[in-house]
Amino acid sequence: MTVQTATQPDPTRKIIEECKRETQIRYKSKGNTFFRARMRGVNSIQVGKSMIIDSPLTITLEWIFQKYRRLRKAQRRFAAELFPRHPELPVGHRDSRLVGRIVFAGDRGQGPPIHNLHLEFWGRTHWFAWRKISEGRTDAKGCFALPFPLRAARNLSMRSLSLEIQKTTRVYFKDDGDDAPHFHFDLFKAIPVAKSDLIGLDYNLRTIPLDYWLYDPSAVTPRAVVDNSESPETYSQGREDALIEQIIPLEITKIKHLKQIELAPDTLTIEDIENDYPLNLTRCIEKRLSGYTRGDDWFGERMMNGMNRGSFVPDAARLGHYWIRYFGVCWYEINDLYALPDVAILFKLKDDGLPIPLEIRLTGKLSRSDHDPFHTRVFSPADGDAWLQAKRVARVTGAFCTEVEEHFAGTHLNTEQYAVAAYRNLRLNPVAGLLLPHLKEVSLINHTADKELIGGYIPTATALTRAGLQQRTRDILGLQDWRGWRPMEAISPAHTCAKAESLFWDVLGKYVDEFFRRHEDGIKRHWGEIQRFADDLVTHSVPVFLTAPQDAVRPRYRELAAERLNYYSQQYEFDPHLPRETIHGELKTVSRITTASTYGAAPPLDWQNLKQACRYIIMQATYIHTWINEHQYDDLGEVRYSCGGLRFGDRPSGIMAPESDNDIAPDLTRSTQMLWFTNFLSRTEYGFITRNEERDVNPLLIRLLKERCEEFKALEVDIEAIESRTNI
Ligand SMILES: [Fe+2]
Repeated sequence: MTVQTATQPDPTRKIIEECKRETQIRYKSKGNTFFRARMRGVNSIQVGKSMIIDSPLTITLEWIFQKYRRLRKAQRRFAAELFPRHPELPVGHRDSRLVGRIVFAGDRGQGPPIHNLHLEFWGRTHWFAWRKISEGRTDAKGCFALPFPLRAARNLSMRSLSLEIQKTTRVYFKDDGDDAPHFHFDLFKAIPVAKSDLIGLDYNLRTIPLDYWLYDPSAVTPRAVVDNSESPETYSQGREDALIEQIIPLEITKIKHLKQIELAPDTLTIEDIENDYPLNLTRCIEKRLSGYTRGDDWFGERMMNGMNRGSFVPDAARLGHYWIRYFGVCWYEINDLYALPDVAILFKLKDDGLPIPLEIRLTGKLSRSDHDPFHTRVFSPADGDAWLQAKRVARVTGAFCTEVEEHFAGTHLNTEQYAVAAYRNLRLNPVAGLLLPHLKEVSLINHTADKELIGGYIPTATALTRAGLQQRTRDILGLQDWRGWRPMEAISPAHTCAKAESLFWDVLGKYVDEFFRRHEDGIKRHWGEIQRFADDLVTHSVPVFLTAPQDAVRPRYRELAAERLNYYSQQYEFDPHLPRETIHGELKTVSRITTASTYGAAPPLDWQNLKQACRYIIMQATYIHTWINEHQYDDLGEVRYSCGGLRFGDRPSGIMAPESDNDIAPDLTRSTQMLWFTNFLSRTEYGFITRNEERDVNPLLIRLLKERCEEFKALEVDIEAIESRTNI
């Protein structure tokens, strides 16, 4: 999404618009060359030195390995053609049954039952031909009973028998414009059945525990178990290719810097590092309008329509005045290197509808010698250099909060909780076709983020430790609920960010309404899956913000906690007063969609609940995530302008010092890592709604979005750049 504010035909506006065009990321394939450095995939990405392959020998070996993999795939395709699996079932009296029960693997192998799993019972002859013997699916209790003719299974020609458990791997739409979702199934697990054991009547395979989309018991939020050897899903080849193509030059740049820092750090400056990465928006504007990006106009414009998409709370006493808040270290575990004070900014709307800052309040430690976490300093434009420094501190705390809270917790973690519940429960219900294309791959990218961001870069580049980040993101997830959510309200005609958000929400409303109208019967018929989806969501939901015992919250912080809840309630459109369920003493954040196992037993409101939940899930996974992810590069692409954290340094002035002070700026390692991250995350997007690279986006959604193309364009949002899923 490329966003600019309302057109102003002045020279400054012209430069801003030109820089936006010049630094806009275009997602085009650059082709391939044989001896180009490459990587093995998304899992190879590391904040240190990623597993890059750059020697000719290794590239050749990697090439041979790729050829081998392709050959194996071709072999499998050839074998499938040579020995086709015909769908016909054998004739004859079905005098035997294969019975058993399938459950999610649990601590003692006894998790909840898995319903509606597609099962096939196959035999293989001595000459490798396939014979389908029976098929069916598990019932609501996870039980199955596949009837089959004993003679067919025990036929002399039969060499081996197996029960095959299938899983839904993807949703796709046909090229003919039909908007009915189709499902692709793949083998999840094959269980051998001994031919000699089949003696008639029932053959009982007993309880079969499956490691299928399990919740990670060690995670502090609802997460899937993902490990590199066995993941519940895999990246599509297109996603891997898009990433590798874009990241190589960035990776080489970062490795060069890390080597230079190791061998001769005095030969490198922050400016050298910046010059090695592509030009970003603020650097571009600075080149042509020195000082403008540090001015009040730009500060207000980016707080409103930039990556942060600030939440403007009206001032109680003054019309046209608003406050934005960013909460600093609070009571989370911190290190002693970086500052992260609370920030409150008072804005007034100008005649053009854009905000201009009047006052900045910084509360907390600004230097090592500060000891009072509740000491507030107030700055205004009359303070000269201190005003400039206060704006920088506000930008930095704002960037931290946007990345950790809105981006990671609000979109990544939030989307994953719906992904796990959807993959575990939605199979026959058409809602699977509505949601799954927007939920795929988020569990994988979050797994990488655990290692490289939450467990890697962020604790070394900001004030919070890993434990502090985990607790904070869990708390913020305790403010994310589908019920009652609506997009941010525009406070002026120039609030394009909010207007575009409402427009997309409107498109989704029409899309979900129409989808439910067309698939009404199926959604009602398989309502039991919705109930289980809702069950998993509520049961595994984190507690509502600050309702769980907070040992670390001392009495002096209680007022701050109340302020946070009050502000976040507007920011995340979260109503803490809605009735919610309490399970094992925890007040659960996610509202229940339905308690009814059949549509007939569900009150009419549950139909609306499901529609609202679907609309909300798609909104967070697509538009909201895209907004923040893409604009990281604009607002976090210049180290001295903004970053994740300013260091205290050793002087009494602490972080209230000029940008040129290298003691408070990120060090060289953090500088190159930050630019690597923002470029990597913004530039390697793949899976766009309108491009529909994998034919997994409903043509109806594409059509509805394209119909509003001009309206988005008027807000200068490029619909071609809206991602269909959170996968970076
Ligand atoms: Fe992201």
